[in-house]
Amino acid sequence: MTCQISLGYTMPVYLCLPSCEPLLSDDPGDASGPDHAWAQLERDGYVLMYEREVGLEDFRHKFLQKYFNDDAIMRHDPGDRPKDRRRARDVIRYQWRDGDLHLREFEKITITDRADIPGPREHARVMLLDDPEGERLIRRFLELVPPERRQRDGTFGVNLFRTFTDVVSKPHHDREQFVMLYVLDRIGGGAESYLYNAGDVTDDGLVSAGPVFKHQLSPGEILIFQDDLFKHGASPLEASPGGTARRDVLVCTVDDSRTYLASSEDLATLTTI
Ligand SMILES: [Fe+2]
Repeated sequence: MTCQISLGYTMPVYLCLPSCEPLLSDDPGDASGPDHAWAQLERDGYVLMYEREVGLEDFRHKFLQKYFNDDAIMRHDPGDRPKDRRRARDVIRYQWRDGDLHLREFEKITITDRADIPGPREHARVMLLDDPEGERLIRRFLELVPPERRQRDGTFGVNLFRTFTDVVSKPHHDREQFVMLYVLDRIGGGAESYLYNAGDVTDDGLVSAGPVFKHQLSPGEILIFQDDLFKHGASPLEASPGGTARRDVLVCTVDDSRTYLASSEDLATLTTI
C-alpha cells in the first residue's frame, strides 16, 4: 500500500505504509553528552539531541538576537533557493592535535555546485570566532563527532538560515561528512525533517521505502547524521490560518575534505594553526 505525500517540490513521492509515523531510534533523554552522540552515530548513523545535552541550554536566545535580524547580517542572494530564504555563513578551519581542538576562520566561504545550483556562490559572512558564543557552539558541535571519525585537519561550515516557506527542494545529500541541524526558533507547523536510507531515493526523488527518521524539530533540538548514509530534507513550513510561518535554523557541516581543503592554498599552512 502506498500514499502520496508532498515533500515541498513538484514531483510526487510515494511511500510504503506504514511509514508516515515519526521514527525515533531512541529517547534522547535517556543519555546525554558526547558519549550518547558517539554511540548512536556509530549504531544508527544519526542522533537527535537537545541543546542542554550539548551544553548549549543558554545559547539560543542570545544568538538569535545577535544574528537573526533583518539588517545586513542575513540576506537573500540572487539565484539562491528557496526564493525567500535569508542566510549568512561562516567556515572554520579546525585541527585536532593531542585531543585539543584548534580553530581559526577559513580563508573563504564560497560554495560551488551545491544544492543543484551550478557555479560558485558567495553569501553574507559572519565571523563566529570573533564571538565567544560562536566559538562555544563550534567547539560543542565538533566534540560530538566520534573520536575515531574525526579528521585531523578539516573545515566546518555554519549556515544561518531564516526560512518562511519551503525549507528544502527535495531529498538530497550535502556531500559532507556529517550534517548538524539546530533549530533555534519556529513559528507555524510543518517543516518535518526526514532521513531516508540513501539507496531508497532515486536522483529524481522517487522513494521506495519509508523514512528511517521523520520528526518536526522544535526549538532547542539538534539532529546530527552521517551524510552519505541518508538523503535528507524537510517538508514545507505551514502557517496557521491568517498567521505567518518562519523557521530559524543553524545547518552545520563537518565538511568533506574535497569541499575546501583539497583545493586550498591554505594547505601550505597545515602545521601553523
Ligand atoms: Fe541539506
